[in-house]
Amino acid sequence: MKSPVSGVSFFDGRVFSTWTVLLIRIQNTNLKNQQNSNFIQSLLLITATGFSFTGCTTNTIDDVVMPVEETANLVTYQDVQFIFENTCTRCHANPPQNGAPMSLVNFAEARDAIRNRGLLDRVSREEGASGLMPLGGPRMPQATIDLLFEWNEDGLLEN
Ligand code: HEC
Repeated sequence: MKSPVSGVSFFDGRVFSTWTVLLIRIQNTNLKNQQNSNFIQSLLLITATGFSFTGCTTNTIDDVVMPVEETANLVTYQDVQFIFENTCTRCHANPPQNGAPMSLVNFAEARDAIRNRGLLDRVSREEGASGLMPLGGPRMPQATIDLLFEWNEDGLLEN
């Protein structure tokens, strides 16, 4: 009998689909041989089971990876740097101008001012209150102030 699998590679990158097609052809060829047919049906079942496991594994990886990416969305210095550049560095420059006691031109200086110089208190005082920053007002929009608080709550990360 001529073999139906001759000349076909099982390792050409499409092993499962090639395997399935060939198994069906073998089964048709051997319809009269009941013992051989049972053996082929077992192989078909094993192949189908392999597909099932592959599908489950792929879905599980998708389900696990996506939430991890969403929770990594922290506020960092990259998100608040524009606030210092737009509103503070005209006085808190390097060197400081207009009587300001320190510069706020980089990550370490901004972080230090939150930790040790009461920055969050200064920017959140009432409009017109003594010591409000930026000095002389106007008070920044609440959403901008909130962003500085979120940076602090998220750990004062640089990136
Ligand atoms: C017009 C100039 C000017 C601007 C703009 C300005 N500051 Fe100031 N800042 C000062 C001066 C002058 C002082 C010192 C007097 C004082 O403590 O109130 C000061 C003090 C501070 C202090 C207290 C420092 C300490 O060690 O006591 C902080 C914190 C501060 N500024 C943060 C900011 C932030 C944040 C911004 C931008 C949102 C800003 N400032 C904008 C002039 C300014």
